[in-house]
Amino acid sequence: MPFTLRERRLGLRNTMPKLLHLQVACAENRVIGRDGRLPWRIPEDLKFFHDQTAGQIVVLGRICFETWPRVLQDGRRPVVVTRNAALASDQVRVAGLLPGALAIAESLPGEIHICGGERIYAEILALGRPMRLHLTLVHADVPGDTFFPEWRRLAWRELDRRDSADANYRYTFYTLEWVP
Ligand SMILES: NC(=O)c1ccc[n+]([C@@H]2O[C@H](COP(=O)([O-])OP(=O)(O)OC[C@H]3O[C@@H](n4cnc5c(N)ncnc54)[C@H](OP(=O)(O)O)[C@@H]3O)[C@@H](O)[C@H]2O)c1
Repeated sequence: MPFTLRERRLGLRNTMPKLLHLQVACAENRVIGRDGRLPWRIPEDLKFFHDQTAGQIVVLGRICFETWPRVLQDGRRPVVVTRNAALASDQVRVAGLLPGALAIAESLPGEIHICGGERIYAEILALGRPMRLHLTLVHADVPGDTFFPEWRRLAWRELDRRDSADANYRYTFYTLEWVP
């Protein structure tokens, strides 16, 4: 049913799309993956990622879905971008393209967390809509075959930052926001 003029003026039946939360752990050389896996094991970051996405909608590519053992735990609702419709089940929604996945995600309750991989991040950053980037920047150049796009081109506003380290890596948890 179309909005009446009065409803528009009052901002009723608001159809503002949800804020997109991007989740990524990225090396200084923008590497995020190697051979279909994470190129590091950073327990503090893994815990952060699981805590952030618990109970939320996670939009992700097929490889990320297939290689994330806990994706169906902790109340996560995955929306998988894939041509393989057979991946759909009671717990898993699928879409052939990212816009279809975002439309499904908008229709579900909860926050939308974008969990990669490479093409999905690139398409999201090109959308030109408000987003919050939960970035773990690993302070090392790491060999890999999958990359986060050049995010520094956008004028992010830093909301939060926390430095940390383990025996192998130094890293910083950033919360960045971009509003077009
Ligand atoms: N460090 C991090 O934060 C982080 C985050 C995410 C991923 N990773 C790493 O990145 C790697 C996986 O990412 P990936 O980029 O290689 O694969 P991916 O995006 O998880 O999966 C690729 C597949 O997903 C589908 N797909 C993805 N994007 C699509 C799009 N925009 N439109 C249509 N279909 C799309 C296609 O599925 P079909 O072939 O089935 O059609 C494609 O073959 C792993 O190494 C993983 O560990 C790391």
